[in-house]
Amino acid sequence: MRYPHLPKLVRHACHLRFAAALLLLISWHTSALAQAPAGQKPDQAAIASAHYLATEVGHEILAAGGNAFDAAVAVSAALAVVEPASSGVGGGGFWLLHRASDDMQVFVDGRETAPAAATADMYLDAQGEVNRDLAVNGPLAAGIPGHIAGIAHIAENYGALPLARSLQPAIRLATQGFPVDEKYHTMMRYRADVIRRWPAATAALLVDGEVPEIGTLIRLPDLAATLQRVAADGPTAFYSGDFARQLVQGVRAAGGIWTLADLAAYRIKERAPISLQYQGYRIVTAPPPSSGGVALAEILNIIEPYNIADMERSRQVHLLVEAMRRAYRDRGIYLGDPDFVDMPIRQLTSRDYAAGLRASIRLDRATDSEALAGFADSPKGMDTTHFSVLDAAGNMVAATLTVNLPYGSAFMAPGTGFLLNNEMDDFSAKPGAPNAFGLLGYTANAIEPGKRMLSSMTPSFVFRSDRQAALGTPGGSRIITMVLLGILDMIAGNEPESWVSLPRFHHQYQPDVISIEPDAFSPELIEQLEAMGHSVEARDSTWGNMHGVLWKHDGNAVSAGSDPRWPSGRAVVR
Ligand code: DON
Repeated sequence: MRYPHLPKLVRHACHLRFAAALLLLISWHTSALAQAPAGQKPDQAAIASAHYLATEVGHEILAAGGNAFDAAVAVSAALAVVEPASSGVGGGGFWLLHRASDDMQVFVDGRETAPAAATADMYLDAQGEVNRDLAVNGPLAAGIPGHIAGIAHIAENYGALPLARSLQPAIRLATQGFPVDEKYHTMMRYRADVIRRWPAATAALLVDGEVPEIGTLIRLPDLAATLQRVAADGPTAFYSGDFARQLVQGVRAAGGIWTLADLAAYRIKERAPISLQYQGYRIVTAPPPSSGGVALAEILNIIEPYNIADMERSRQVHLLVEAMRRAYRDRGIYLGDPDFVDMPIRQLTSRDYAAGLRASIRLDRATDSEALAGFADSPKGMDTTHFSVLDAAGNMVAATLTVNLPYGSAFMAPGTGFLLNNEMDDFSAKPGAPNAFGLLGYTANAIEPGKRMLSSMTPSFVFRSDRQAALGTPGGSRIITMVLLGILDMIAGNEPESWVSLPRFHHQYQPDVISIEPDAFSPELIEQLEAMGHSVEARDSTWGNMHGVLWKHDGNAVSAGSDPRWPSGRAVVR
């Protein structure tokens, strides 16, 4: 049981539809990757996101002369309004950008940072135990948000339209209102008790103190005003001045530790993506402070010599699971914020290192995780959102944004209109020991002032000379294995509808089980895997919410897919 102390609905929610690293090298940008024949353009655009209103907003901005980056700004802002359970301007995220004109890829890191007054033991009680309530509920759980800084940076440096134009649709949605959908309702049923602790959050997101029914119109005038301020005066209107004072005052009055200096000091980071070759494809994906790209590189390097596509299913699953097991062990031991921790990225993502790991895999037998030394990590977080954009010029964005748990910390500072994240829980609250979630802690991801908490979010691109794709998903630590399965399906020649619908399985070193979606494996396959020494645990609900786009250069075919697990998602090619 991965979340033993959480109510059943929460556990459901968790699983519900839920290089050589260029990191260290000279430039922040990777380039000279396989790309479309010079001058070729898709002529159509594709957007897939977790909410139909956000997908429409993205197309509206493209129709107004925006490029994929403007559309990403608009979709990010719209999701912050219509999907407050999953992301928001009180949270953060990662935007992976591909610019077609010069084949440039860059990773915009808008991850939250720990406030300056944060300490490694800030969630421990007098007995040294982690206080889970403080770690996830209320303003002490919130990192300094990166969402507004991220979209403002993208608009200014990569967009064709002013930030104010791309924010307009989100301001309209917040002003005019949007209907409560299944996700809003389901997640709110789980978080409403905590939301009710904070009057501003209660007034904004509940109706007469109750969870609103599906279809109820929600208007967020304070959020509209916050976005309007940013539209008028840029991101400094959020990170300093009167608004910042109001925000910090609200946080501190409710027991938080933010200061004006924390907000003023927040900076996004442009980072070189992790870039690797796999069977003739180039995969461009998330570097630290995400663990996703390093883990993906390890897994793909381990499995590359096997022709897994042609293997019998039980052998294929076995090898993937053994590769996942080893990659997640390394995630737990080594990874954290690159600005704070020295990490052997070049080693972890090298083919030689993968060859050593491969040599320890038996083809007929599961490895016992305990036989591999090291710390462990397990799924965290239950809400987040991903969207993918391709524009008519071939630019792409893959963005994964989050407030961590559904509705983040549930805290809203009076007059601001948005919830703060509880991303501080992605840190290890107690290094070297299991925390209340059953997570084992580790030093690389210990809390330090100004540090970014380790993430699993893995927005990714896949390129070959004749095609290019963007994909990603929420799902805590399961994100990495979902993106892996999606990439392998794309490489097998399948369309986005297939990547996003695939039955999912996952292994993360500890707990030492293959976790599967309901009915993902046949009884025969489970028997075969158990005979090899694996434990298979079928969950009672699905997980993830994947959204992908694909452009096949031959025949100029554009397609998109939206995860069928949640009904509000929408993929539109236009
Ligand atoms: O950054 C992370 O890895 C987590 N905060 C993401 C949480 C998440 O994906 C939950 N989704 N269902």
